[in-house]
Amino acid sequence: MTDVLADAREDLIAAARRAMDTAYAPYSGFHVGAALLFDDGAIVTGANFENASYGLSLCAETVAASIASHAGRRGGLLAVAVLGGMGGAVEAAISPCGRCRQVLNELAALGGTDPLVICVGAQEVVEMRLSVLLPNAFGPANLA
Ligand code: THU
Repeated sequence: MTDVLADAREDLIAAARRAMDTAYAPYSGFHVGAALLFDDGAIVTGANFENASYGLSLCAETVAASIASHAGRRGGLLAVAVLGGMGGAVEAAISPCGRCRQVLNELAALGGTDPLVICVGAQEVVEMRLSVLLPNAFGPANLA
């Protein structure tokens, strides 16, 4: 059996890095890229999209999840790579904000996966399952 994540891991991180270049972050100056890996090997990316009404800004992970949904994806989420930094200069590894954890959980729960979240910094890579970042999540099963 092929290990989709092992095969795509470096491509996934590279895709998140490229996605970061499309960030629209004129207010915070903090550019973020995210890449979602699906069980068929597909990678869907996103970057943060800020708003003049600051609180309406969208995070990279949320943009990527929205694009995936629009492409018809309902589950199969194996992994998420995220990275970011001021002006696109990656330093510390960043992990998805609380709202993004919840958004990612929706996509994961639909397919019954617990995606690996790969947080990429300049010097280190921190990995953990989404269920560790968002334990006891509220999800679609609660409304079934
Ligand atoms: N941001 C993300 O895109 N993802 C996260 O998980 C954390 C924060 C964005 C939102 C905002 O555009 C900028 O980073 C600074 O908060």
